[in-house]
Amino acid sequence: MPELYEVLSKEDIDKKVAAVARRISSDFKGSELVMIGVLKGSFVFLSDLARQLTIPVKIDFVGVSSYGDDVASSGRIQLNREIGIDIKEKNILVVEDIVDTGITMNYLIDYLKSFNPLTISICTMIDKQQRRESEIRIDYACHEIKEGFIVGYGLDYAENYRHLPELYHLKL
Ligand code: IMP
Ligand code: MG
Repeated sequence: MPELYEVLSKEDIDKKVAAVARRISSDFKGSELVMIGVLKGSFVFLSDLARQLTIPVKIDFVGVSSYGDDVASSGRIQLNREIGIDIKEKNILVVEDIVDTGITMNYLIDYLKSFNPLTISICTMIDKQQRRESEIRIDYACHEIKEGFIVGYGLDYAENYRHLPELYHLKL
């Protein structure tokens, strides 16, 4: 049986999300912001983050999947949901659950750039630097970890554990 070790309690998560929401609200004060959540992992984080913002935002989602074993990205990415709103000349905030190698994020940035937005900023719940392959400028990260596989708060292992309110380190 896999074992779960708590990394962040619900209270820790709330504090970190609120702090990042304050920074985003201040940085984008007076301008329009479109949040683009990366499905499926970001659905919990985005819903908490959006409700802590004090600026008006629009929300959309993209869907991506990468094939390979369950704990590592294969590097082959498939877009299975396209954006559905006009982002031309808009400020975009890409909202991810976790950035690991950075391959998914790089792919998404290229995809979003093709719609000519004004700016693209990146926000992630977890910045995991262990296996970063391409340099990525992460503008907002709630929590940084060096290594390990994380589940809960939207993040899954083979589609399990997404519903857990806390973040856990999964030991297989
Ligand atoms: P990357 O392309 O390697 O940066 O991986 C990004 C995607 O892999 C994330 O959006 C997650 O869906 C998944 N992923 C990477 N590390 C973890 C983890 O520790 N737990 C759960 N999913 C992960
Ligand atoms: Mg993801």
